[in-house]
Amino acid sequence: MDERTIRLKINGREREVSLPPNVTLLRVLRDLGYVDVKNGCEKGDCGACAVLLDGKLVNSCLVLAWQADGREILTASGLGSIEHPHPIQEAFADTGAVQCGYCTPGMIMATKALLDVNPDPSEEEIREAISGNLCRCTGYAQIVEAVAEAARRIAGGGDSG
Ligand code: FES
Ligand code: FES
Repeated sequence: MDERTIRLKINGREREVSLPPNVTLLRVLRDLGYVDVKNGCEKGDCGACAVLLDGKLVNSCLVLAWQADGREILTASGLGSIEHPHPIQEAFADTGAVQCGYCTPGMIMATKALLDVNPDPSEEEIREAISGNLCRCTGYAQIVEAVAEAARRIAGGGDSG
């Protein structure tokens, strides 16, 4: 199959990769070491692979890498680090919303996408925003609380990054 060289801006860093047309963005991100992007179902059902593509939430398993050529990608590790966590990440940690952690990066990106457009969401809006993200551990109550807490922290002056 023909290969093409594409350019991706991932967490602010330019990357160039050559690949055939059938490779997903999820595969490329993981191969490049962005293992915070989780591989759950590879068919759009779980949200574990969610990233922001030009600011819009997508399941990276459903995007072909070629479609992301020239575009900006943000993953959870680009939002903040252990040393400098984003308020969303701190809120998840502080409310007990992280158990096994497998769903967490995708949940955090869904939260970022929500709070970017709706800084003060209702519980219903939070539940709707994370409805594409499956969590097997928490029963969702702590995650809903984490999103609400993140909104409060950002409104209170935390960096919304
Ligand atoms: S791995 Fe992409 S939605 Fe499940
Ligand atoms: S914390 Fe384990 S799947 Fe959500």
